[in-house]
Parts: sequence; C-alpha cells; structure tokens
Amino acid sequence: MDLSPPKPKLLIVEDDESVRTQMRWALVQEYEVLLAGDRPAALGVLENERPPVVTLDLGLPPDAGGTEEGFLALAEMLEFDPLIKVIIITGRGEKDNALKAIGLGAYDFFCKPIQTEELKVVLNRALYLSQIEHERRDLQEKLQGEAFEGMIGTDLKMQEVFASIRKVATTDVPVLIVGESGTGKELVARAIHRQGSRKGSQFITINCGAIPENLLESELFGHEKGAFTGAHIQRKGRFETAQGGTLFLDEIGELPLPLQVKLLRFLQEKKVERIGGREEIFVDARVLAATNRDLKLEINEGKFREDLYYRLGVVTILLPPLREREEDILVIATALLQRYADENRKKITGFTKQALQAIEAHNWPGNVRELENRIKRAVIMVEGSKITPEDLELSSAFKKYGSQGLKEAREALERDFIERAISKNRGNITQAAADLGISRPTLYELMEKLGMEKEK
Ligand SMILES: Nc1ncnc2c1ncn2[C@@H]1O[C@H](COP(=O)(O)OP(=O)(O)OP(=O)(O)O)[C@@H](O)[C@H]1O
Ligand SMILES: [Mg+2]
Repeated sequence: MDLSPPKPKLLIVEDDESVRTQMRWALVQEYEVLLAGDRPAALGVLENERPPVVTLDLGLPPDAGGTEEGFLALAEMLEFDPLIKVIIITGRGEKDNALKAIGLGAYDFFCKPIQTEELKVVLNRALYLSQIEHERRDLQEKLQGEAFEGMIGTDLKMQEVFASIRKVATTDVPVLIVGESGTGKELVARAIHRQGSRKGSQFITINCGAIPENLLESELFGHEKGAFTGAHIQRKGRFETAQGGTLFLDEIGELPLPLQVKLLRFLQEKKVERIGGREEIFVDARVLAATNRDLKLEINEGKFREDLYYRLGVVTILLPPLREREEDILVIATALLQRYADENRKKITGFTKQALQAIEAHNWPGNVRELENRIKRAVIMVEGSKITPEDLELSSAFKKYGSQGLKEAREALERDFIERAISKNRGNITQAAADLGISRPTLYELMEKLGMEKEK
C-alpha cells in the first residue's frame, strides 16, 4: 500500500506531443501529470480533476500559429476556478503575449525551450501560493458559515447555543441567558429578537444593575404626572416602549425584590401599571433576561424569587466561558484580528507562534470581551506584520513568576499547569494526568509535594 501523501495535480495544456512527453517525463516524479492537447480537452480535465496548477501553451489548435485559443482557454479556466494558477508557456519572442496573459490573470510565464529545473521552481511556488489561498478561503468560508448573527462559534457548545436560539426565536416564551461576563449574553438576546417574528419591532434593553433602585421602577413601568415629587409629566416605561417587540432585562439578578413582584405579574398577565396610575395597560412584549450570577444561590439567600426564576427561565441558554470553547478561541481571535486590522488599515498577517501559544494558554477570565480588547490594543501597538504576546499583553510568565526565585517560580508554574489541567477535565485526574503527559500516581505525588488539595 502506498502511504505517501498524494502528489499534487498538474495539468499540461500543449498541442505538441513531443513537448508534452518531455514535460511529463520531467515532472511525473513530483506531480500527478494530466495532459490536454486543446482547449475543450483542457476544460474537461479541469472540471473533472480540479488541478490547482496549469501550464498553458498559448498556441493551441485550431489556431496553433496564433494565440486566440490560448487566451480563450485562460479566460475560461480563470472563470471556472479564480484561484487556479496558470503558467503561460510561450515561444521565444512572444513576451508581449505572455505579459498580456499576466494582465488577464495568468500567474507567470515561461519561455521555450523549457529548462526543467527552472520550471519546477516556478511550479512549486505556484502550488504553494495556491495552497495558502485555498486555506485562507476555507477559513473565511468556515468563519462565515459558522458565524451566526455576529457570533462566531465553531465549537460544539456554541453550535448547540445557536440551535437553541433558533428554536426559541419562533416562540414567545421568556428566555434566561446565563453566562460569565463577556461571554456574549447580549448578542444572544439580540439574535433571539432578530430571528423571531418581532424583528421588525423594537428591541429595548435595560440594565437593571446600572440604574439606581429608586429610579428603576419608573424606568421600567413609567409614571403618571404628579405620581411623585419631580414627576412633572407622564412617562411611559420600557415595557410600554417595547410594545410589539422585545424587552431585554440585563443583569436581572440586580432587580430589587419589589420589582421582581411586578415583573412576575407582567409575565403572568401581560399587564403593567404606571406609578401613580389607576389602570392596567396591556403590553405585548417578549421578555429576555440575562445574568452572570448564580440565581439559585440568590434564591437560597432570599434575594431572588423562586417563582420568578421559574417563570423567566422557561428556557435557559447557558453560554460557556471562552476557555471552555477550545475550538473557538483561535478562530475568534483570527476573525477579530482581521476585522480590526481592516478597520485600522493595517497590514497584519497574523499572530506569531508565541502569541498563538499565549492565547491558548491564557485563562480568559473576561471571555470574548477580553479577547476583543486585547486584540484591539494589539492592532494599535503592533510594529511588525505579526502580533506578538507583548502586543496582546500576554507575556505574563515573567510578570507572574519573575519576582520569585527559580524554585518558587517553577513550583508556581507547576501548580498553575496542574490546576488548569484539572479544571479543564472537570476534576478527572486520570484525564488531567494524560493531558500533562504524566501518570496518575505521579500527578498525585506532585500535588502532594505542592501542597494541593486532591478534591480540587
Ligand atoms: N461568539 C462571539 N463572536 C464574536 N464576538 C463576540 C462573541 N461573543 C461575544 N462577542 C463580543 O464580545 C463582547 C461582549 O459580548 P456581550 O456584551 O454580548 O457579553 P455579555 O455576556 O453581555 O457581557 P456582560 O456580562 O459583561 O454584559 C461584545 O463586543 C460582543 O460583540
Ligand atoms: Mg451584557
């Protein structure tokens, strides 16, 4: 069985059989050589075999003395595959035609008689470029294909989140969005609104934690003129403003208990009452809520109503922290880098190897927002064409361990590594040990030596 990687495909379009044979003979070691003697045959091979690189003789039958068929073939090939690399083979004294071909999108040209070694260099470079371009296109397609309402997520956990959003979007049930700070809760809320039938109406946001308690009730429910000192005019609350649309209650864990009662009543009866008002107003608004707190804990402490919790969280969408979306971190980082580099008109080709490692090693306590901020900063700070760990302010090893002696620094690093491996594997010691490349007993020994608790 042949286990060597498949050879790249190369199409040679040439009507002179002896030249064809010579080229084939020279290149067959490195390429899977495909041959065509005229334009229709060449297009046929292109469609069936999709070679990334082609050599094209401009003088093809029925116009073997001219160049018309050759130029036509070039145009058709590029239309079929815009990334294809076509190398023009011309006779001596036909440089003008060759240059014209390059102007039309050919990759390079080569004059007869063919010097095999030189041709190989040109072909290799063309192939290399073609691979890079294909990879980039695939990545872009992947990013576009798997981005959903502005959210990038190739990780399975995020695909599940997207599926939940699609499901709940077509209903009117309240949704509770739970996740650490910066995980994208607001994006999810907006996505639910936009994917549903209310998308043509308002999406109203209120941050329950950002408005002083004494003003929050009026903000939410509105007030009548003269309802309290300073209420000079009648005012509608956000519920009423959201009529027909969606009301997003951010940081719902901060909602004071009396307002929790009023919210519960709204969820049950779809009615609100302005402060100082005498009538109930019917409001058709969908309620979405978000929190980064553990509401169960708040319930136990008497800070959050259990009945409201169940009403709000008919459906709960859990956003995983970024550090648990292993597949996504680099994909999001790359996409954000591209976005901010374009915005700032900077030519940045990517991250250095060290930067990629630092991104993967970092714990991302601030989740996507932190990643976003670090990349924004890096795009401004970067001096070369690649982002370094310093640009991202992720060269933390020295900052973190540098002030200690070598032994202490090593132990601190070991402790960090072990903690990360254990938390990544949700406490599974066997898997954590495998990740660290040591045996389970060795891991236990190390933990004991470092004074770490086994329960962690
Ligand atoms: N999957 C993602 N792809 C791309 N950008 C994202 C993604 N998730 C979040 N972001 C971006 O990260 C930032 C934080 O997102 P968002 O404001 O929705 O988070 P949050 O959970 O509401 O945070 P907080 O709890 O701090 O309010 C936003 O700028 C958002 O555009
Ligand atoms: Mg938010």
